[in-house]
Amino acid sequence: MAVTPVDLTGKKILITGPTGQVALPVVEHFARIADVYALARFSKAEDRAVIEALGAKTLQADLADARSVMSIPDDFDYVLNFAVVKSGNFDYDLAANGEGIGYLMTRCKSAKAILHFSSTAVYEYDGLEPRKETDPLGDNHRVMFPTYSIAKIAAETVCRFVARQHQIPTTIARLSVPYGDNGGWMYFHMLMMKGGIPIEVHPDAPNYYNLLHADDYIAKIPYLLAAATPEVTTVNFGGSQRTSIEEWCAYISELTGFEPIFKNNPKAFGSLCIDTEKMHSLIGETAVDWKQGIKRQLEKLAPEVLINKQG
Ligand SMILES: NC(=O)c1ccc[n+]([C@@H]2O[C@H](COP(=O)([O-])OP(=O)(O)OC[C@H]3O[C@@H](n4cnc5c(N)ncnc54)[C@H](OP(=O)(O)O)[C@@H]3O)[C@@H](O)[C@H]2O)c1
Repeated sequence: MAVTPVDLTGKKILITGPTGQVALPVVEHFARIADVYALARFSKAEDRAVIEALGAKTLQADLADARSVMSIPDDFDYVLNFAVVKSGNFDYDLAANGEGIGYLMTRCKSAKAILHFSSTAVYEYDGLEPRKETDPLGDNHRVMFPTYSIAKIAAETVCRFVARQHQIPTTIARLSVPYGDNGGWMYFHMLMMKGGIPIEVHPDAPNYYNLLHADDYIAKIPYLLAAATPEVTTVNFGGSQRTSIEEWCAYISELTGFEPIFKNNPKAFGSLCIDTEKMHSLIGETAVDWKQGIKRQLEKLAPEVLINKQG
C-alpha cells in the first residue's frame, strides 16, 4: 500500500544542489507552490540569478565547511539533499558528500522529514541482475568518477547515523538514471552518436538501467518524504520500466539517423537496473514512458537533430 504524500504547499523547503541537472526542475516546480531556499556554493555567480528568477531564495554555503552550514536557517519543514561533488579529491569529496549531509541534518534536525538523494552507483556490479536495496555495495563508478561510489556510500552511512541519533524522519532514495527536458546521460549519448564518438558499454549486454523522468521524480518527492522514518527508509528510485543503453541509443538513432558505435569495455559501469518491488509498494509506479521522455528531451534541447519534426 503506497504512502499518502505530504502536502508541500506553503512549506519552507531547503533544496541543496539546486543548480544541478537533477534538482533544477525540482526547484522550478516547488518554488511555485512553496517557500524554497536553494543552497549551493554558487561557484558560478550567474547560477544565483537563475535560481532567484525561479522564485527561490539562495543560501551560499559549502557542505564541506561545517561553519557555513551552521549559519543557515534551522527551521525548514523539509530538506531535499541533491548536492554532490565529484572533484576526484577524496578528502574534499568525502567531507562535502559524507560529512556534509551530517552537518545539514544536524542543523535541520527539527525538519518533518529529510530526503537524501543517493545513487545506484553504491551497488557492487552484479551483471544483469536487478539490484535490491539489501544487495552488496561496491565501488561501482570508479572507472569514470574515482570518489563517487565511495562518497555516496559514506554519505548514506552518515545520514543514517544522524537520523537515528536525532530521531529525524529520513528517506534515502537511490536514483537510477534521472533525465528530463534539461538533459541526462542519453543526451550525451546522442551527442556522441552525432560526433561519431564510440560509446563504451560493458560486454555483458544489454546494459540495463531504469530511466527516471523529471516529471516522475518531482511527482514522487511528496511520497518519498511521507515514507521517511527515523530508522531511515532506503529505497531504489528509478523508472518502473527497465530499458538499456543499447535500446535507448537505437531509439535515438530512429529519431535522428545517427548511428551509435559501441565499444566493449569490461570496466564500463555495466548494467545497473533496479528491483522495483520496494519502490512500488511505497510510492507506486512511475508514469512517463522512456521513449516519450527522450523524444520530448530532443524536441526541447536539439530539435534540429530530429529527422521527422512532426512525428
Ligand atoms: N545525474 C545523474 O545521472 C545522477 C544519477 C544518480 C544519482 N544522482 C544523484 O542526484 C543528485 C544530483 O546530481 P546532479 O547530477 O544533478 O549533480 P550536479 O549537476 O553535479 O550538481 C551538483 C550540485 O551540488 C552543488 N554542490 C556541489 N558541491 C557542493 C558543496 N561542497 N556544497 C554545497 N553545494 C555543492 C552544485 O553547486 P555549486 O557547485 O555551485 O556548489 C550543484 O548545484 C546527486 O546526489 C547525485 O548523486 C545523479
